[in-house]
Amino acid sequence: MAGVRPVIRGVGRYLPERIVPNSAFEHLDTSDEWIRTRTGILERRFAADGQLTSELAVNAARDALDDAGVEPGDIDLILLATSTPDRTFPSTAVTVQRELGITQGFAFDVQAVCAGFVYALANANALLRAGDARRALVIGAETFSRILDMRDRSTCILFGDGAGAVILENRPADGTNRDRGILATDTRSDGRYQHLLYVDGGVSSTQTAGFIRMDGKEVFRHAVNKLETSTRDCLTKAGLSTKDVDFLVPHQANLRIINKTAEKLGIPSDRVVATVRHHGNTSAASIPLALHAAVSAGSILPGNILVTNAIGGGLAWGSVVIRW
Ligand code: UT7
Repeated sequence: MAGVRPVIRGVGRYLPERIVPNSAFEHLDTSDEWIRTRTGILERRFAADGQLTSELAVNAARDALDDAGVEPGDIDLILLATSTPDRTFPSTAVTVQRELGITQGFAFDVQAVCAGFVYALANANALLRAGDARRALVIGAETFSRILDMRDRSTCILFGDGAGAVILENRPADGTNRDRGILATDTRSDGRYQHLLYVDGGVSSTQTAGFIRMDGKEVFRHAVNKLETSTRDCLTKAGLSTKDVDFLVPHQANLRIINKTAEKLGIPSDRVVATVRHHGNTSAASIPLALHAAVSAGSILPGNILVTNAIGGGLAWGSVVIRW
């Protein structure tokens, strides 16, 4: 059916200056070698004291606006995926809106942990296609360093801080999979698994922010299976198959999860974007950071099929298929 389809017009990112190498954790009975071989991570960034998620988000948003050649005044929807908001309320998205000087449209946060950017893209896609907005700023921004238990070697070595953003814009489309833009989305959750990955604090429970707790092995097992199924289903919705995929731009939790999922999907490793080595797991920020890296490297060409997938606390997971 002819109509409109949201197209990615620009990509941006921001990484805090402070680089934290694996050697920073060696007092915890871990080693650079263990972290590299089990996760692929060499280093991550941590935000400076007092540097808020909104600041990371605004910097990434400005970079994406520049890349798109779009003024803040042209944005009428902001979706900010984060699990580390500045405050309990208002949403960090409205702080970004204020900092960018945007007074029109609407802004809200999306909370789906590491799947947050996939959820945000899917929701922006629906709102744009419904005509509720015309041009969206979709951001993933996190300061996970603030919810790390620095005594727990099984989690604190994994995560980092950062932000990435895209500008999505409605373009006229034929309604076929030859169109540019978001071709299909797949979002899922299953709350039975929340004990596998959660934060042990919150507003109505402890009145504290809490720290991340994870059963890594179980999350790993769910990740590989659920990412494969979601990606295949999303490609089917788009009328495509894994053979059509030019680039996999996955959530960056662990290089072993990324490689195993790609292998199950039959996507060759030179078609898989991996930035986890230098960013660690930046939760909702990891996909736009990876997308930015691939676009900056000039790897992605117009017409290419991209598939992005993610899973995290909830469990919540999903995929998006995009023609570049
Ligand atoms: O983005 C959100 C989703 N999150 C994820 O996708 C994370 C998924 N899980 C993972 O990435 C991996 O499970 C981890 C990297 C967290 C752990 O890797 P693993 O290969 O699954 O290790 P394991 O949990 O089976 O632990 C193996 C051993 C254990 O010791 P024992 O019981 O065999 O003696 C752990 O205590 O490694 C030990 N261990 C460590 N050793 C050194 C756990 N963390 C560390 C550490 N350094 N940092």
